[in-house]
Amino acid sequence: MSVKAFAPASIGNIGVGFDIMGLALEQPGDEVVVHQSTQPGIRITKMTGDQGKLPYETEKNTAGMAVLRLTEYLGATNIGIDIEVHKKLPLGSGMGSSAASAVAAVLAVNELLKAGLNKKQLLPFACAGEAVASGSLHADNVAPSLLGGIILIRDNHTYDIHRLHTPSGLYVAMVHPNIRILTSEARAILKDAVPMPQFVQQTANVASFVVGLQNNDFALIGRCLRDVVIEPQRAQLIPGFYDVQAAAMSAGALGCSISGAGPAIFALCEGSKTAEMVATEMQKVFIAQKIESNIYLSPVNETGAVIC
Ligand code: HSE
Repeated sequence: MSVKAFAPASIGNIGVGFDIMGLALEQPGDEVVVHQSTQPGIRITKMTGDQGKLPYETEKNTAGMAVLRLTEYLGATNIGIDIEVHKKLPLGSGMGSSAASAVAAVLAVNELLKAGLNKKQLLPFACAGEAVASGSLHADNVAPSLLGGIILIRDNHTYDIHRLHTPSGLYVAMVHPNIRILTSEARAILKDAVPMPQFVQQTANVASFVVGLQNNDFALIGRCLRDVVIEPQRAQLIPGFYDVQAAAMSAGALGCSISGAGPAIFALCEGSKTAEMVATEMQKVFIAQKIESNIYLSPVNETGAVIC
C-alpha cells in the first residue's frame, strides 16, 4: 500500500516575526510517497529534484527523521516504510523546502498507518525532521506548510500556535535568485542581543501586523512590514537585496523582506495584479545582475498539506 502527500512552500518570519510567524503559499511544494514494506525499518529509497544533494541516511534526512520520530511515538518500531521524496522546492531557498518534505512525510505516514493523528498532533514530528536541516527547533515554516494560513507561534517548544486572519485580496510576490543559503549559516551570523530601540520598534511592528491582518487594514500591514532586527544582518547574503526591496516598493508592494533565511525575497501586495507587477520589477534587479531567478505568485494557502 502507498500514500502520496503534498506540502506547500512557506514564508518563515514574514519579515517582522523572526521564528514566530509564517504563511503558506499555494505552489510550489514537495511531494512525498510512502510505501509499506515487509522489511522493518524507515528508509529513503528515492529522491528526485535534489540534484543529488540531500542525504539518504534516515536520521540526516528531514523526511526520514520526521517519520522516525512519528513511528517511535506510535510504538510502530517494527514497521517497514520506504519513502520517496520528490523535491519541487529549491534547496536552501528560504521557501521552507526542508519543512515541506518533513510535513508531507508525516502526513503520508499518518494516513498509511491509519494512525488518526490530526495535523496539530503531527506538528512536533515534522518539526523534529525540519530541525535536522536548520539546526534548531522553530515551527514558522512547518506549521503553515502543514496547517495552511498565516500562523503565529507563541512558543516553539510547546507548539502553542495560533492561526491569524488572512485579509481577502492579500497576495504574495516572491523572487528566488538561484543561489543557496544554508539556514544554519544564516542563523549563525545573527547577533545574540537586540538593542533596545530596535526591540521596541520590532515588537510594535509585529503586534500591529496582527491587528492589520485582523482588520483587513492593508495600510497598517504595509507600515508594519519592516524588519529592523534580522534583515539588516542578513541582507549582505543576498546580492542586490536593497535594490530588489526598493523595486518592490516602487511597484506598489505593501512591504518586502527576506523569506525565511533567504535568499528568496517576498513582497506582500493588495491584489493579484499588483503582485504580478511587483514580482516582475523585483526580478529585473536579478536580471541586471545576471543572476538566474524564478518568480512565484500566490494568495495565502488556507489548506496546507494534503493527501493526493
Ligand atoms: N525562522 C527561520 C530563520 C526560518 O529565519 O532562520 C528559516 O528556517
